[in-house]
Amino acid sequence: MGINLGDTFPNFVADTTEGTIKFHDWLGDSWGILCSHPADYTPVCTTELGCMAKLVPEFQKRKVKMIALSVDSVQDHHGWSQDINAFIEQPPVQKLPFPIIADEKRELAVQLGMIDPAERNKEGLPLTARAVFVIGPDKKLKLSILYPATTGRNFNEILRVIDSLQLTACKKVATPVNWKAGEECMVLPNIPAEEAAKLFPKGIRTEKLPSSKSYLRFTPQP
Ligand code: BEZ
Repeated sequence: MGINLGDTFPNFVADTTEGTIKFHDWLGDSWGILCSHPADYTPVCTTELGCMAKLVPEFQKRKVKMIALSVDSVQDHHGWSQDINAFIEQPPVQKLPFPIIADEKRELAVQLGMIDPAERNKEGLPLTARAVFVIGPDKKLKLSILYPATTGRNFNEILRVIDSLQLTACKKVATPVNWKAGEECMVLPNIPAEEAAKLFPKGIRTEKLPSSKSYLRFTPQP
């Protein structure tokens, strides 16, 4: 099982550190990010959740609600949250600034295609890979990235991708390689030149190419 870009994200019901949630109700009209973690009390996950906690203001700025998932119990999540807070030099309370889903039966891990076949706990049960799902206010999947358990994510890259997703959701541009917010964007290839000139009054720079085709069109970020 799994989920493809453009699919409606499942409206699952789950136990979390902030009580039982129904995903679509929890998301409301916001963007959302769901990050899965292989297991509680593991080193790479601890650094990742600490980083997520520190980046809450950046996600709030982008109106993105955050939620994490790991295959252990709510009780374990509370205990582990104390360690995560201590690691990032915060008061060691049993709470992070976003909920963590308890997926002990791996039901969501299977439904969302997040199992890492290479990683098992000491009972032989499979662990989750490091999945990143960004969900739009329309509840559809906008981005999915899957890392193995042994590679920690780069949350600066995830914020960069969210900037691109939110820009391209409302403006007819795409973002080029290594783009960062505020930099030049690319005019979508399916927009005819006349329409593009009206849409992008800041100007369009068309790169000359051996093929003489005019598809490499840059414009300041609208
Ligand atoms: C970790 O979070 O450190 C981790 C978890 C499972 C496998 C490998 C690393």
